[in-house]
Amino acid sequence: TQRRPLIAGNWKMNCLRADGLALASGLAAKASEKGQLGCDVLVCPPATLLSEVVGVTKDSAVAVGGQDCHVATSGAHTGDIAAPMLADIGAGYVLVGHSERRADHSESSTDIRRKAIAAHDAGLFAVVCVGETEQERDLGATLSVVNGQVAVSVPDGATAKNTVVAYEPVWAIGTGRTASVEEVAEVHTAIRAELVKRFEDGNEFRILYGGSVKPSNAAELLALEDVDGALVGGASLKVEDFWQIIETCA
Ligand code: G3H
Repeated sequence: TQRRPLIAGNWKMNCLRADGLALASGLAAKASEKGQLGCDVLVCPPATLLSEVVGVTKDSAVAVGGQDCHVATSGAHTGDIAAPMLADIGAGYVLVGHSERRADHSESSTDIRRKAIAAHDAGLFAVVCVGETEQERDLGATLSVVNGQVAVSVPDGATAKNTVVAYEPVWAIGTGRTASVEEVAEVHTAIRAELVKRFEDGNEFRILYGGSVKPSNAAELLALEDVDGALVGGASLKVEDFWQIIETCA
């Protein structure tokens, strides 16, 4: 199966307007200059910048996504954003279940499944994030934790055309400590097996790796059979670094 890689940048709670727009337009310019890219490119800015980032990237290959969505389509949910609102301003994707949301907002895999369904209903790609903590890895529970998260967080209606799975070991996020290629390969193979067991097109789903991905380690990670892209935090905040990771897929 030929899966087109996806390189996604999660800006998290970073970038004031000037920096965010410079980053987005810098990427859009590079993408347009290059023409054919070897991967899909996604940026997920903070909510304050979504609309303007859609504006500056609209004639380029750079897609835009939200970092979270609510399960409901509208209503009394102060501070939240509904999936149809993201679709309405021109976003094509939304991250759901990032470990920082799971930790900071006590989101469960059931909540995340409902968010993924809300994303699908709005016509968005859901990027469903999973990953074990350091303690879970030390206990030898990595595969059972991750498989359990995939089983519950990925809804029955998922297809390769509306869902991407992102594996991010929590201990590798923002720590500079990347999982080894063996560790990544083991988990991605297990996720692939779950997806193939459950979905007719399980082989077509893209499975991203995230956790301290940078220009110096992207190539070896992306070369792995079941690694179909990267979810990049810190290194997605600099045009040059993020672009180098994108170029790995050329
Ligand atoms: O969503 C992105 C990840 O949490 C990875 O963040 O690349 O800064 O480790 P990082």
